Amino acid sequence: MKNIAVIGYGVVGGGITTVIEENCAKIRAAVGDDVCVKYILDLRDFPDSPYADRVVHTIDPILADDSVELVCETMGGSHPAFEYSVACMKAGKSVVTSNKEVVATFGVELLECARENGVMYMFEASVGGGIPVIRGINTALAGDRISSVNGILNGTTNYILTKMKTENRTFDDVLAEAQVLGYAERDPSADIDGIDAKRKIMILTALASGKLVSDTDVFTETLRNVTVEDIRAAEKWGGAVKLIAGSVIADDGIQAHVCPMFVPWSCSLAHITDVYNGISITSPVTGDVMFYGRGAGRLPTAGAVVADVCAVLSGAAKAERIPVFEKAEGSVKLFDEIGFRCYIRANSGRSELCEALAAYCEGTEVLSDEAGVVEVITGKLTKPETDKIRAQFAGIESVIRVLD
Ligand code: HSE
Repeated sequence: MKNIAVIGYGVVGGGITTVIEENCAKIRAAVGDDVCVKYILDLRDFPDSPYADRVVHTIDPILADDSVELVCETMGGSHPAFEYSVACMKAGKSVVTSNKEVVATFGVELLECARENGVMYMFEASVGGGIPVIRGINTALAGDRISSVNGILNGTTNYILTKMKTENRTFDDVLAEAQVLGYAERDPSADIDGIDAKRKIMILTALASGKLVSDTDVFTETLRNVTVEDIRAAEKWGGAVKLIAGSVIADDGIQAHVCPMFVPWSCSLAHITDVYNGISITSPVTGDVMFYGRGAGRLPTAGAVVADVCAVLSGAAKAERIPVFEKAEGSVKLFDEIGFRCYIRANSGRSELCEALAAYCEGTEVLSDEAGVVEVITGKLTKPETDKIRAQFAGIESVIRVLD
């Protein structure tokens, strides 16, 4: 019997016991033994749960029990998740987590702690829920240099954009519905302001490049300002508006960003709808690889945690390429230096806008010019340039970058 503990018995933590129960024969075959959830750490009691007798309210009994080989951390947040994970690893227990905040913030320290203590720290469920993208980067693409990652990494915002498009509804209206359905949090900022996607692209970029950029290095733009008019313009242009978390890994530095973008139909990401996630990875040898699936939800995310549990307890994880990354200090390229084509909509004369744009870029194309509203796709512009153009034209209603 292999004993494990679950710390944080919320949506994902609760899903872990369900997956272990429902798939016990498959898990026994993968691990070579039965897996038993011996402790559940939570502030609450669960008197009606079959696991009521396993609930503890401090980490101490878990740390003191040498029969517990592994701890699933599904608490969320940085603290005390970080301190508990370190304490468990120092006590000789491997840790697997779904907590993107703690991995994005303390991934370097946590992986180092695992190495120092001869245990594993695994985090497949922290990005893309049930999509095995982390294992894909670490193992299947281990021999290639990844040059870029682009993903739809937040299910809530993709659901909002899908409903805005198919039902012609405003952002606020669909957000309210997403909150009722339980997709978006009551405080939806982490989803709609790009914070959740930022943490996930930080993790994928660290795995792809070996460098963990800091939170403040990732340019992050909210989805709140995207309108149905923007979505219709993208359709007219030949694509869809998506919240894209992207990174470019080049010899002159790493650059990561999260922003709404026009994505052409020729890119698979444009076709990903509802709460689904997708990640497109480009590398010189392999070319483009696409990952797709349920990026959130109780069972898909718990399933990814349990897959890590099986990998650790069976010994398979030790044979995989163990992720190693360091802080990206000095290797970061500023977002301000990167040019993107942009969609611009303005209440201004076509010639006025095109003349002004000609001072900054070549190749602006007019998408439409009707009833005093002009829509263009510009040549490449940097953020400082779009800021200047916005300052020059009071009538600019929208600026959205293009994913090329
Ligand atoms: N709020 C996140 C999302 C949950 O909507 O994708 C999964 O990290």
